[in-house]
Amino acid sequence: MELTLTLSASNLILMAVGLWGAKWLVNAWIALYLAFESIEKYPGQGFLLLHPFRGWTIVLGTVFPPRGCMGDFYAAFSLYKKYGSTCLSSVVLWGAVPTYWLSDADAIKAVTADRSTFTKDVQAYEALNMYGLNILSVDGPEWKKHRTIANPAFNDSNNNLVWKQTISIANEWFSDIDQQLMQNKKLGDPTTLVDLSSVLARITLSVIAFAGFGRRAPWSEDIETPGGQVMTFKPAVIGATKSVIPYVVTPTWLYNLAKRVRIPLLTSAGQYFDALKVHMLEVISHSRAKAADGKGFELEAALLRNLVQANMIEGMAQGCKLLSDDELLADMFAFLLAGHDTLAHSMTFAIELLSLYPEVQDKVREEAACLWPDGFPCSESVGRYKESMNQLGYTTAVFQESLRLHPAVPRLSKIVQRDTILPTRQFSSGPDGAIEDVMCSEIHVKPGNTIIIDIVGLQRNPIHWGNDAEEFKPERFIDTPTYHWPRNAFLAFSSGPRSCIGQRFALTEATCLLAGLVLKYEILPPKNLKGTTREERQANLLKWIPSATATPINAFVRLRRRK
Ligand code: HEM
Ligand SMILES: *[C@@H]1O[C@H](CO)[C@@H](O)[C@H](O)[C@H]1NC(C)=O
Repeated sequence: MELTLTLSASNLILMAVGLWGAKWLVNAWIALYLAFESIEKYPGQGFLLLHPFRGWTIVLGTVFPPRGCMGDFYAAFSLYKKYGSTCLSSVVLWGAVPTYWLSDADAIKAVTADRSTFTKDVQAYEALNMYGLNILSVDGPEWKKHRTIANPAFNDSNNNLVWKQTISIANEWFSDIDQQLMQNKKLGDPTTLVDLSSVLARITLSVIAFAGFGRRAPWSEDIETPGGQVMTFKPAVIGATKSVIPYVVTPTWLYNLAKRVRIPLLTSAGQYFDALKVHMLEVISHSRAKAADGKGFELEAALLRNLVQANMIEGMAQGCKLLSDDELLADMFAFLLAGHDTLAHSMTFAIELLSLYPEVQDKVREEAACLWPDGFPCSESVGRYKESMNQLGYTTAVFQESLRLHPAVPRLSKIVQRDTILPTRQFSSGPDGAIEDVMCSEIHVKPGNTIIIDIVGLQRNPIHWGNDAEEFKPERFIDTPTYHWPRNAFLAFSSGPRSCIGQRFALTEATCLLAGLVLKYEILPPKNLKGTTREERQANLLKWIPSATATPINAFVRLRRRK
């Protein structure tokens, strides 16, 4: 009697679990069915096991989804071509969310221009909140507050600092190269091999430390905290940047546990983040103290000083301080994160491309020699950034063309809030692969749908860039009386109200460094690639993996001093 009772009780539980499971499955199936029904009219209809814009997707990105499947980081424009459409539909398994991939300049412009209909996918940025909500990670009125304070900070005075510090650190790098060259010359080799990844990380860090925080971080020295109790600034920033992805994919409890128990990657991640915080707090309190005693700041126009000042001015106008110290700290971290890796990786791609295109180097050198007839300036004789930049139009075009082919941020994700019609295009491909018969089309997106802004797809779209879209041609970014380059088809810095606040910062630093480097040195591919075709070398040297930003993994060049 008792036995049958317990049995039937456990049976009941089993039945309940079974029923619940069955209900869940049916619901999930219905949701998927409805999602596929809603994308039925549109080309693509891919089924995505992973959300295209989440930490794990990036971690698995080199192997999954497999080459040529929807979601593949390396597919570029190929899938759009296969389906003959600039918009592809898909459904993400988890949540059964209809998800549209866009490589169409007009559709993307409509999305980035309207930040209340297409909101930021804030869930993807939650992990960047280790120091609190910041300009990168929030949306709506909260974001507006951050951006209002930050906008005036990125002004011409700050760009002047960027220009000045780039020249200063470039000089330090060049003298390092010259020493290497001298040693190699004794061994009969007029060139030196450079590992671009490590060099450019040092350069971008030095520029953001100075133009961002007002601190000097010379080539071979580093910044200590006053008590010297934590690691120095450079390893803290580099370590923290490298730890973002491990941090993103780790649940909070495990991350907290790693503070007490040694866990590979995670324990060190915690140490990097903590050390960086000590450094940032030290700079903030320094800036505040300087502001308070009215003596002005040690360094004019550093982003942080500008932020603190704008916060006080705006705050007085509105009767309260807009951002707290914690929020300022979080924004400074956002600038470091957003402005360090992106720029280092983009300049790496650009220098690799220059090594493969000597004819482009010649033009950059000509332009640089015109601006600097007496050679690259030393730190004391820097010109003003604006006039100098205006004379380096071709060099800027080289960097933009490199960003077009190798954007540091390959895709972005937005969430639809209102029913909207987006303009797209359908087309066919001729026998030689050229795009033909382009026709206007449209998609109807609904609240809750996801939009993937496919930056790589857009920037290699032949409808906007021509059938030579895969080729490296900096002239594309130079207007002529009959040609106006397609602004809306260039999205490396995103566009609209949430576009990159550091775009000018980045273009200034990159243009200055590329022009200086080419003026002094001839950039050559590594020796082991002798005898290969340009295409093979390009595939080899520009290899990248998806990480916090697109990361080059085989970035070497040789340098030879010009006469
Ligand atoms: C080549 C270098 C760079 C590239 C390719 C780049 C790219 C981007 C992109 C695509 C976005 C939009 C991100 C999104 O919607 O989630 C963005 C936003 C942002 N970038 Fe950059 N960026 C670069 C350099 C910089 C620099 C040097 C700084 C600062 C010093 C910076 C600071 C920011 C900030 C703060 C945002 C967020 C803006 C907002 O949401 O209001 N970036 N960047
Ligand atoms: C840039 O902003 C700072 C802080 O708001 C200000 O002191 C400086 O004069 C501004 N520079 C220019 C060129 O507007």
